Amino acid sequence: MDLFTPLDLPHGGRLPNRLAKAAMEEGLAGPGQLPGERIEHLYRRWAQGGAGLLITGNVMVDRRALTAPGTVVLDAHAPSAPSAAGPGPPPRAAAGSGCRSTTPAGRSAPRCPAPPGRPPRSG
Ligand SMILES: Cc1cc2nc3c(=O)[nH]c(=O)nc-3n(C[C@H](O)[C@H](O)[C@H](O)COP(=O)(O)O)c2cc1C
Repeated sequence: MDLFTPLDLPHGGRLPNRLAKAAMEEGLAGPGQLPGERIEHLYRRWAQGGAGLLITGNVMVDRRALTAPGTVVLDAHAPSAPSAAGPGPPPRAAAGSGCRSTTPAGRSAPRCPAPPGRPPRSG
């Protein structure tokens, strides 16, 4: 096994190699905090680089919890059309791509949501 051996994932997907781009804070959201041409261009270039897995930076699900002015937000108000909501499949390589939608509890959100009837949990 080396860096260029494919990796089968438990859910059935296959990464073409073991090269992964770690999450980075792109800060390239367009108007309305939506992904636009700049972030599409960036991910297209990264995909062409041949890494087996591209992990995105933060994609917030609540616009009250921005990590930076250019953070992408995909919340209930975001358009669902692919052209507005993301770059779509990469052109070549990067068969594995992840969209990070998590936020470390207690960092960007001071309190965790709680089920109805239960008090919120702090970080
Ligand atoms: C959402 C998110 C954004 C990140 N942004 C950056 C970044 O802009 N620059 C950076 O050097 N590391 C960033 N990191 C950390 C890297 O993804 C990575 O964890 C770090 O470079 C350490 O690598 P390692 O986990 O392989 O040790 C970010 C991590 C997360 C989860």
